[in-house]
Amino acid sequence: MTTVSIAVVGLGQRGLQHLNALWQLDEAHIVALCDPFAGNLAENKIQQFVEGFSLDGIRTYGTFADLLTAGGFDAIYFAIPPSLHQGELLQAAQAGIHLFAEKPVSLFLDEMLKMERTIRESGIISTVGFQQRHDNWHIGIRNFLADKRLLMMTYVVNSTLESHSTKHTHTETVGGPQNRVWTANRAWSGSTVVEAGIHQTDLMRFWAGDIAWTEARYIQRAADDIEDGGDNPDAYSVTYGFESGAIAHLIMSRLRKTFWGDNYHDIMWDRGHLKIDGDNGPVAYYYDGPYPPPEGKVDPTALGHDLDFGPRNNTTLEIARAFVTAVGAKSEDPLLNTFTSSLNSHAAVLGANISDQLDGQRINLKDLLYSDDYHEFRKKPTET
Ligand SMILES: NC(=O)c1ccc[n+]([C@@H]2O[C@H](COP(=O)([O-])OP(=O)(O)OC[C@H]3O[C@@H](n4cnc5c(N)ncnc54)[C@H](O)[C@@H]3O)[C@@H](O)[C@H]2O)c1
Repeated sequence: MTTVSIAVVGLGQRGLQHLNALWQLDEAHIVALCDPFAGNLAENKIQQFVEGFSLDGIRTYGTFADLLTAGGFDAIYFAIPPSLHQGELLQAAQAGIHLFAEKPVSLFLDEMLKMERTIRESGIISTVGFQQRHDNWHIGIRNFLADKRLLMMTYVVNSTLESHSTKHTHTETVGGPQNRVWTANRAWSGSTVVEAGIHQTDLMRFWAGDIAWTEARYIQRAADDIEDGGDNPDAYSVTYGFESGAIAHLIMSRLRKTFWGDNYHDIMWDRGHLKIDGDNGPVAYYYDGPYPPPEGKVDPTALGHDLDFGPRNNTTLEIARAFVTAVGAKSEDPLLNTFTSSLNSHAAVLGANISDQLDGQRINLKDLLYSDDYHEFRKKPTET
């Protein structure tokens, strides 16, 4: 077993979940933590999220610069809000440190492309936190679909404004929302499609391959419904066209005073369709008898096939295992996605925002990433 020494940057909601997973892996050795808010590095706070955690032998830093200067780790987990990135990933990659980056790696395509180039050129192992690829139901579905002609996918997420969690970044001290719910704010989160829908987008790619184009329309929140900077739209309708020719719909909402949330997937191939309805296991509906059916009769009760992929696993633990194994072996083979392979998911959700801004215009993702036509849309506002 090769032990990998790791630093975690950002000890908020997601950083604590990662720390909890890494703490369970014998091959992961946590050596340093970094967060600008001292309270987020307190042992007794972290113990509430990581069973058996102790700061013994772990260095703590208030700035990334101090952490990087001190060094002494093979890999860094980055779990900071995308709007607060200030070149840390680039500096770590240039220093040859392997990277686990939380999604979305940036809200700006130029910044993301620069990160990707630097990571590729540095030859480090890197991944992005798309842990849904490690869900054994999702892997089972991918295997089930492998020999089928996939036509269309629809994912509906009905969610509520109040179910946003209060985050650990003291946003009120750095020009953000007073209530610390930065995921409700457009400038901090990029939109619900960017912040949350990127998972479903990436999952669709796991099943259907790369996305070629997107068209999207959002329903903006009414001005008198915006509180504490929570200005993300009420509802989102996004269409993706895949390079394979398949089509997908991502429908999301974040409604106030509703208090009911649910979600379901519908995946269609040319001879049937498959559903995941909330936490109910996947069911595939197809006919597998002789064709045409004898005497033209089909037993409708024989058409639903429960797909038993076992109980759901801990995907955060599984993606940690894959990353630590990859770093230990100095090989990307154990990864289900790399930083480079994740570009398409990021371009798709940022492209959806741009399509909405352009009244639903179709955005070809390769043009969005590389054509001069989209130069202005790719830029981080602070960059010239
Ligand atoms: N993969 C997933 O399922 C998942 C789930 C939740 C969040 N996320 C992502 O993880 C990232 C972090 O989100 P979160 O929910 O943990 O937010 P959070 O606000 O709860 O935590 C962020 C932490 O980063 C710290 N931080 C801020 N700037 C920093 C800096 N420059 N250096 C070091 N630490 C810094 C904050 O103090 C805070 O403790 C976001 O990109 C988010 O989209 C992913």
